[in-house]
Amino acid sequence: MSATEPDPQRMDAVVALCKRRGFIFPSAEIYGGFRSTYDYGPLGVQMLRNVKEAWWRSMVQLRDDVVGLDAAILGPPDIWRASGHLDTFTDPLVDCRKCQQRWRADHLEPAEDGTVRCPSCASTDLTEPRDFNLMFKTHTGPVADEGSVAYLRPETAQGMFLNFKNVLQTTRKKPPFGIAQVGKSFRNEITPGNYVFRTREFEQMELEFFVPPADAPRWFDHWVEERHRWYVELGIPGDHLRIRPHEKEELSHYSVATSDVEFLFPFGWGELEGVANRTDFDLKAHATASGESLDYFDQAANERYVPHVIEPAAGATRSMMAFLVAAYDQDEIGGEARTVLRLHPRLAPYKVAVLPLSKKEMLTPLARDVLGLLQPRYLCDYDDTQSIGKRYRRQDEVGTPFCVTVDFDSLDDAQVTVRERDSAQQVRLPISELVDHLTGRLNL
Ligand code: GAP
Repeated sequence: MSATEPDPQRMDAVVALCKRRGFIFPSAEIYGGFRSTYDYGPLGVQMLRNVKEAWWRSMVQLRDDVVGLDAAILGPPDIWRASGHLDTFTDPLVDCRKCQQRWRADHLEPAEDGTVRCPSCASTDLTEPRDFNLMFKTHTGPVADEGSVAYLRPETAQGMFLNFKNVLQTTRKKPPFGIAQVGKSFRNEITPGNYVFRTREFEQMELEFFVPPADAPRWFDHWVEERHRWYVELGIPGDHLRIRPHEKEELSHYSVATSDVEFLFPFGWGELEGVANRTDFDLKAHATASGESLDYFDQAANERYVPHVIEPAAGATRSMMAFLVAAYDQDEIGGEARTVLRLHPRLAPYKVAVLPLSKKEMLTPLARDVLGLLQPRYLCDYDDTQSIGKRYRRQDEVGTPFCVTVDFDSLDDAQVTVRERDSAQQVRLPISELVDHLTGRLNL
């Protein structure tokens, strides 16, 4: 990936690959699809898990100041009233009176003469903007009345605020410390689109990091830097990433400072993640609404305070799309064109493919033994169909870092050939050294 200009053809190529190779399918396709909703296929579910696992590893496993949580998706209106989402989690919406389509008012570009037209039928007969709440409303239990109203969470963050005291008491952590969560969120987006960039059902990876109030600016800078580094370490070129601080009027109702980590998607720059200074807004709001104190007593300083919160909030599905776009490449190997996903080994769906050179029965037992050796360590593919060249191309196209080929000589010398994806270079080595060799080169 080198060009730093928008590149719509790359997007089409990635979308086609995702469908063809089982990464992402349009949801409910046999019924004509369900707008902007997607299913993750055999390779997509694996890659999405790898994205989330890489995040969890960096945010929870490699730190001793962050613990995990998995909170409920359904919640009562009380949560969303206190958090401000019932009042302010809205987009301005206009209706076209001619074709009845609905648009986000802030996405409509006025013409040079100042008129605003419907993007579908060009009519200027549009309603005044009105606020449209993005939360999905449902009912719990058998009676659908005001008392049974519930909402699907539009962000995972509130689960961390609601459990602040539980976590404090059960882990004996003290600020600065964080609570991390990965899971589904739901927003009734007016204009979903750009593939899985903006959907109504998506996955988030969020950290709420609780700090003494005076330390908030320092931790904000820390997390902006850390999160930028995470994307670079997983293979996104630095010139396709930028940090964009929000203007004052863009800030969410809970934030006094936000910086987005943005990626140059094929359609232009887009947010991957927002790092926000949420201050004590949420803890104070829930404390007031629930009557429970959500503060912290610092024994050493003999001081009670409500921690401030720095929140790095990323999209798992959106990040996966960015990793796919950044990894997509076309080159030539031995004079033949190929498509290759240069995915970081940590993100690649399969780490290794075991390929018997031919389908002949005599190769199968040894090839299966090699597979059995590797499977407990890495997710592997096994493929004995078609020519070896075609099978290499198939693995390149889905980003498998290494192919291990078992041939007829392997039966005599107990050696196999390891082929690396990006360079297509091959080395032959004893099966007894295979695990150490791959472990060293995959460097997971
Ligand atoms: N708790 C703060 C929060 O939710 P956000 O900027 O609205 O902040 C965080 O969302 C991240 O979640 C975004 O940067 C994006 O990656 C992802 N995200 C938000 N809305 C999304 C949508 N409709 N579809 C896919 N991903 C979305």
